[in-house]
Amino acid sequence: MNILLIGSGGREHALAWKLSQSPRCSALFIAPGNPGTAQCGTNVALNVTDHEAVARFCIENAIDLVIVGPEAPLVAGLADDLGRHGIRVFGPTQQAAQLEGSKAFTKALCDEAHVPTARYGRFTAPEPALAYVRKQGAPIVIKADGLAAGKGVVVAMTLTEAEDAIRMMFSGGLGKAGEEVVIEECLIGEEVSFFVLCDGENAMPLASAQDHKRVGDGDTGPNTGGMGAYSPAPVMTHAMEQRVMEEIILPSIQTMKKRGTPFKGVLFAGLMITHTGPKLIEYNVRFGDPECEVLMPRLETDLVDLLEAAVEGRLGGQSIHWKDEAALTVIMAAENYPGTPKTGTVIKGVEKAAALADTLVFHAGTKQDGANIVANGGRVLAVTGLGKSVAEAQKRAYDAVDTIDWPGGFCRRDIGHRAIGR
Ligand code: AMP
Ligand code: GLY
Repeated sequence: MNILLIGSGGREHALAWKLSQSPRCSALFIAPGNPGTAQCGTNVALNVTDHEAVARFCIENAIDLVIVGPEAPLVAGLADDLGRHGIRVFGPTQQAAQLEGSKAFTKALCDEAHVPTARYGRFTAPEPALAYVRKQGAPIVIKADGLAAGKGVVVAMTLTEAEDAIRMMFSGGLGKAGEEVVIEECLIGEEVSFFVLCDGENAMPLASAQDHKRVGDGDTGPNTGGMGAYSPAPVMTHAMEQRVMEEIILPSIQTMKKRGTPFKGVLFAGLMITHTGPKLIEYNVRFGDPECEVLMPRLETDLVDLLEAAVEGRLGGQSIHWKDEAALTVIMAAENYPGTPKTGTVIKGVEKAAALADTLVFHAGTKQDGANIVANGGRVLAVTGLGKSVAEAQKRAYDAVDTIDWPGGFCRRDIGHRAIGR
């Protein structure tokens, strides 16, 4: 099978690494890819916002399956446009991708499907939004409706912070994403990411993971795309997983189908495990990054079989196996991330780190510059360890981090602290 994978981050290197191990994968192309994916297949310099150019490439190269990594192409309708050419795509249609593309869409779905989530209000003008938060009080959560590259959510601890966030969003601080604002009750509990494979009708649980969103040790500093993750998350017991499937995932999938917009792809539920049970914080319509960098190393089943079964509506008969091991990944980021990162700095020792036992180094924002690997983005490497416990996986990951010689980078030193503290 000829496969085209769309994306260029650590998630896509992890997917490419796993796909390339499948005996069913005869050729793997990654667009645009990174120096890590180049070790798993052929990088192609396609402009993925030009859907017709992607379609032409697929036809010319007899691509049997396109796998879309990030959300932006899905929300932009890449799956629909390729589908019109008869090209098979793993990933939701534009309408189904609204589960990530619009927070108001997802809140309305929760109402319709009786999915437990935070109480909320929707606003298209600042005055009623300000009146609402003054009535509700802080802490309270202010969210831009649309995609805002991880900057669209403000967990306001004070009323002043909430009012500032509302004014920032309605004065165009986040562009079109902030034209509508959702204001939510602040949920208290432990956060967990849960991944499910969907074929429009069936939903197959994949695995759980826990991300570390803040830039600094001890969960301090500004939010990032994620500074590290581990899987499985101990808070997600088997009983909790069943509850989440019954109360959250299945009603959502069934409602999407009933509406005539079935969801096919990876559904990533951001959950808060509160003292009254699991509640949905948000949906994403793709694998998480860096969560994918801990899921793929644990997956034993052939990924091509799984994704093809999802595309063909055959998940009902599909089984899945995971390694009985924990995985933990540490993001190495370029200086000044999540502000404008300092790029171009030389990274040494990546191969030496990757050669350590039970260790994988996934590339994210890197670039080949002659013989050197240099930083080319905010999150640059995802250094993953496997082990019998989260603690053992953590030790492997940090041993590998310490093998990498990169004065221009930094990482958190406490990835996994919650699981290890238990
Ligand atoms: P994201 O949309 O991924 O940028 O999410 C931002 C983060 O804000 C989430 O991962 C949660 O930590 C937090 N968050 C979002 N909504 C709520 C809520 N209703 N209550 C508490 N925390 C929230
Ligand atoms: N790590 C969170 C995300 O991928 O959205």
